[in-house]
Amino acid sequence: TRTPVNVTVTGAAGQIGYALLFRIASGHLLGADVPVRLRLLEIPQGLKAAEGTAMELDDCAFPLLQGIEITDDPNVGFDGANVALLVGARPRTKGMERGDLLEANGGIFKPQGKAINDHAADDIKVLVVGNPANTNALIAQAAAPDVPAERFTAMTRLDHNRALSQLAKKTGAQVSDIKKLTIWGNHSATQYPDIFHAEIAGKNAAEVIADEQWLADDFIPTVAKRGAAIIEARGASSAASAANAAIDHVHTWVNGTAEGNWTSMGIPSDGSYGVPEGLISSFPVTTKNGTYEIVQGLDINEFSRARIDASVQELAEERDAVRALGLI
Ligand code: NAI
Repeated sequence: TRTPVNVTVTGAAGQIGYALLFRIASGHLLGADVPVRLRLLEIPQGLKAAEGTAMELDDCAFPLLQGIEITDDPNVGFDGANVALLVGARPRTKGMERGDLLEANGGIFKPQGKAINDHAADDIKVLVVGNPANTNALIAQAAAPDVPAERFTAMTRLDHNRALSQLAKKTGAQVSDIKKLTIWGNHSATQYPDIFHAEIAGKNAAEVIADEQWLADDFIPTVAKRGAAIIEARGASSAASAANAAIDHVHTWVNGTAEGNWTSMGIPSDGSYGVPEGLISSFPVTTKNGTYEIVQGLDINEFSRARIDASVQELAEERDAVRALGLI
């Protein structure tokens, strides 16, 4: 039998946590043959609700679930962690400036990064879901100098999945027929879903669609503003789809992308495609044996260049802001 994998989830008592934990425990994160031990990290006010969720996890009698620990201490929560899903974050409240938001999140992600640095397992993989995800990942990474920088990633898989679904809807194709779609940049309204290299049943997606107006005025804003549309319709923010994307992100990272396809992940830039080194930006990546690589050599047309640059510019501004606050 395999040794259990320690998976730490922050914000475990939140709505994404509630949609996420049961799928981790049932084997969707790592594989149907991989036992897991869960650590739920919450703030003191969230502990009781996390205990309730843990009771329900118990009641599922998941064969793969080998233990649940609940704590409000990051040093305990990340002890021996192999996978960390950083979901809990400080949301933007009314009248809050970006600087305040970044500072509040710095107060969460800096100590968590430090605790990961000091206590996590050597093979730790970190996915930041809590917004602003890319910059929160940067803050955590900066606080963990002993952990290889590439282990800190930010989630753009929900955007990727949203783009797949919109493209399928538009063309009548099945989602499974669509390959090589890319989300570039920040997980924010400036993100750029790129179909110029995507394939639909083997044909170039941009050629199949042949409608730049639809791309600019419909597809891109629909994907970028989908979160707001969900809030409007559901009266609450995306939770199950966000949890699903987190599962997908880690599953793909650990188990690999399929031949002839890639995925999108927010990862530290190595300077590829003109994205300044060190920014945590979304790229097309292939994964294999728990590592990832940026897909190289793609032609970036003018339409894409302007949009990638705008999103990367936003990331650079967020980085400069957290640097000015002493968070990185
Ligand atoms: P929620 O408000 O329902 O839950 C957040 C939980 O985090 C709460 O239980 C809270 O007590 C906990 N928390 C706060 N600070 C913490 C800390 N320092 N340590 C541990 N736990 C802490 O929020 P929800 O809906 O679960 O969303 C969580 C985050 O995910 C938000 O920042 C949201 O914007 C983000 N998100 C990101 C997406 C992406 O695509 N990257 C998609 C959807 C949501």
